[in-house]
Amino acid sequence: MKDMAAPLASGLEGVVVAETRLSEVDGERGRLTLAGHDVEELAGDGGATFEDVCGLLWGGALPGAAEREAIRAAIAEGRARAFALLGRIGDALTARDGMDALRAAVAHLGSEAPPAAIAGAIATFAAAWARRAAGEAPVAPDPALRLSADYLRMARGAAASEAEARELDTYLVTVSDHGMNASTFAARVVTSTGSDAISAVVAAIGALKGPLHGGAPGPVLDMLDAIGAAAGGAAAGGAAAGGGGEPPAGSAERWVQAELAAGRRIMGMGHRIYRVRDPRAAVLERAIERLARTAGGARGARLALARAVERAAEAALRARHPDRPLRANVEFYTAVLLDALGLPRSLFSATFAVGRVAGWCAHIDEQRRAGRLIRPSSRYIGGVRPRVDTPPGGLI
Ligand code: COA
Repeated sequence: MKDMAAPLASGLEGVVVAETRLSEVDGERGRLTLAGHDVEELAGDGGATFEDVCGLLWGGALPGAAEREAIRAAIAEGRARAFALLGRIGDALTARDGMDALRAAVAHLGSEAPPAAIAGAIATFAAAWARRAAGEAPVAPDPALRLSADYLRMARGAAASEAEARELDTYLVTVSDHGMNASTFAARVVTSTGSDAISAVVAAIGALKGPLHGGAPGPVLDMLDAIGAAAGGAAAGGAAAGGGGEPPAGSAERWVQAELAAGRRIMGMGHRIYRVRDPRAAVLERAIERLARTAGGARGARLALARAVERAAEAALRARHPDRPLRANVEFYTAVLLDALGLPRSLFSATFAVGRVAGWCAHIDEQRRAGRLIRPSSRYIGGVRPRVDTPPGGLI
């Protein structure tokens, strides 16, 4: 009876299930705090690397030089070990979907692999999958590099410039943690049962795969391509092909309206928590601007197209949902940034996992310390069959 009286929160909105020191999402003001640091100060202009944010989330403070080097070396060791494992993970990397491959490959790690080993392995498996999908041999990790530079090198088969590595760091730091998002919650639920770290990470990868969570950026790029092509531009083929640019007036609006009329959602727009523009969109937008300044041309054109589509989508969604702000989320500019970095769109969700694993591992540790089984209630709305031992007409 108690469960019948409780309010139903099918999306668990407003339900607080944990105290955390890791991150805070302020949806009203559009602020993300990562262990005390504003994301806009930490990522990008702040110059934090993936290793820095691992130190921050795993150790509680930004690492000094010696500690940063220790974290870098441990993650590099994780990449080397995972690469050595490639021949022993069966057909995990033959999966057509990069997240299916990642989930299967990570399941081969020792159940209590430490965070640095998991982080190194996810980058290595994701990159190896991309190479295999492109019909190329996997590229062995370079133990001297930091994760961002080596991930780009392993995934593309070509060394990254410092500017590219820096902007991948911007991305990885920006997405490293984000409150009680679905994949983090999945990891915490598994951990709360007393299960192992790899089971929790595998569950998190499964949650991240969905299009409402980490599966959105690939479709965002498809949308930009479709609008660019419909406008007669040469957007299809990605930044490398030189596509994009501001579409002719009205073409983005028409495309967005047609999607909405067909009952489809606009990927990269809307958020469960943010009622203003996702602050991470601004961080990534600046990263693309910096890249466009160093590499020029196509990247700037794609950014102009993305901005025009964002404006059109925002206006259309405002007209449809005047009381529910639906603004650009992190995935919108993730698509443009990862494309500008030369990563294939099929690898975008797995690249999200490369960054978010920092948060997952920290939450697994925090949940273990909390030590309480997460077990919500449900409201039964099925019927009740009469018990077989009840005589017809009921009990006398
Ligand atoms: N495009 C079109 N309509 C959208 C929308 C979008 N991107 N996001 C939300 N809406 C609409 C819903 O259809 C719903 O309309 P209704 O009340 O007429 O049914 C209304 O806005 C409220 O949406 P709701 O599903 O309650 O919001 P949510 O908090 O559950 O959803 C997201 C949040 C992120 C799942 C949702 O905004 C979405 O699907 N976005 C696109 C996928 C995406 O970019 N995911 C990455 C998130 S970081």
